[in-house]
Amino acid sequence: MYKVVRNTKYDFAGQSYGTIYPNLHKYPATMLPQIGIEILKELNIKSGKLLDPYCGSGSSFASGLECGIMNMYGFDINPLAVLISKTKFTKVPLSEFLDTKQMFRNDVFEFLKNESNIKKLKCPTITNLDYWFSKEATINLTIIKHFIDKIGNHNIKNLFLIPFSETARECSYTRNNEFKLFRMKSEDLLNFNPDVIGVYFKKLEDTFCVYSNCYFPKIDNKIKVNVTYSAFKPQENYFDIVLTSPPYGDSRTTVAYGQFSTLSNEWLGIDYARKIDGMLMGGTRIKENMAKGLIAGYISQINNEDNKRALEVSAFYNDLEKSIKDVAKSVRKGGKIVYVVGNRRVKNVILPTDQFIAEKFEENGFKHLTTYERALSNKAMPCRNSPTNEAGKTANTMLSEFIIVCEKQ
Ligand SMILES: C[S@@+](CC[C@H](N)C(=O)[O-])C[C@H]1O[C@@H](n2cnc3c(N)ncnc32)[C@H](O)[C@@H]1O
Repeated sequence: MYKVVRNTKYDFAGQSYGTIYPNLHKYPATMLPQIGIEILKELNIKSGKLLDPYCGSGSSFASGLECGIMNMYGFDINPLAVLISKTKFTKVPLSEFLDTKQMFRNDVFEFLKNESNIKKLKCPTITNLDYWFSKEATINLTIIKHFIDKIGNHNIKNLFLIPFSETARECSYTRNNEFKLFRMKSEDLLNFNPDVIGVYFKKLEDTFCVYSNCYFPKIDNKIKVNVTYSAFKPQENYFDIVLTSPPYGDSRTTVAYGQFSTLSNEWLGIDYARKIDGMLMGGTRIKENMAKGLIAGYISQINNEDNKRALEVSAFYNDLEKSIKDVAKSVRKGGKIVYVVGNRRVKNVILPTDQFIAEKFEENGFKHLTTYERALSNKAMPCRNSPTNEAGKTANTMLSEFIIVCEKQ
């Protein structure tokens, strides 16, 4: 077993993501940027190329930026994640943004003055549109999207898409306190009549405020954050540091990144939005359980109770192992990896993902340096999830998180 050290320095009790870098958009299971900052400082890493193969909304880039790292690379299969990460770390001229905002506002309000205008617009393709949106919400979202699509500067357009995505989610019939896609109770639908245009313009102001105060001042032309919308593609001996918080299980039974993002992704024009969870780690079914390494015994315990669950768990570790192989060969000699992960419980068996990660990196030319355990008091959600897939049903799965550090030999 790889040694685990309880380290209270990494608890950041009472702190949240927003304490230093408020997020531009809600996202599930975000990593506290404070963790990345502290560990990069502890490892004395101030330069080089940083990789996050599962970058989500980009908290590792916030950590890197704070520590002086100028070249950062991220990958994610979820288009919404890529949009959030890219927008945060791309410099746009603020005056051009403000001019665009003024014109956009005028155009929208001018358009709204004539009701017959709406007939000229085509509604987007959203699965079960009427189930998720009122007619009025659909019309107003269509109008906003129509004018966003007219914005020529791609980077400025992204700053308009971020509040649009949040508005689409907030003004839909989805239960906003759930990450999975569940419809509101019918009695709640009756009183739900959001002012879509008002919500959007308020969010646009908030987005601009967070971007211009927290991100814009820290990015200059020397800082390059390349976020690619795909699974990680290996590049031999290329990266100096990997800082990431990978998924801790498949999306169907843990955090449903795809479901959380479905409505946003569909409004953003992603036609396979409903397939994303199946494309993420652990999403592809396999026929045999993992039989090698320290995880095998744990999977066998689950298998004694439930073969299907054991295969689902195996599929996740199978993908994680493949991905670690690719990441390992992409790190240069002397480079380090930092993985922040939780150990989840399946059928009452706690799966030691921290140990699995250390083991797989050691099998791929790394030396395990340390694993810290931190108490989990403020992560956006993973100590409660919905293992049964039933709306509102949650269970405690994790109370701590692990920070695994290994070095390439
Ligand atoms: C724990 S989240 C990362 C959160 C991120 N650190 C943040 O603060 O927002 C894990 C991410 O991995 C992504 N993901 C899952 N499987 C993937 C894969 N095979 N390739 C790339 N990204 C994947 C998910 O879409 C999700 O955004």
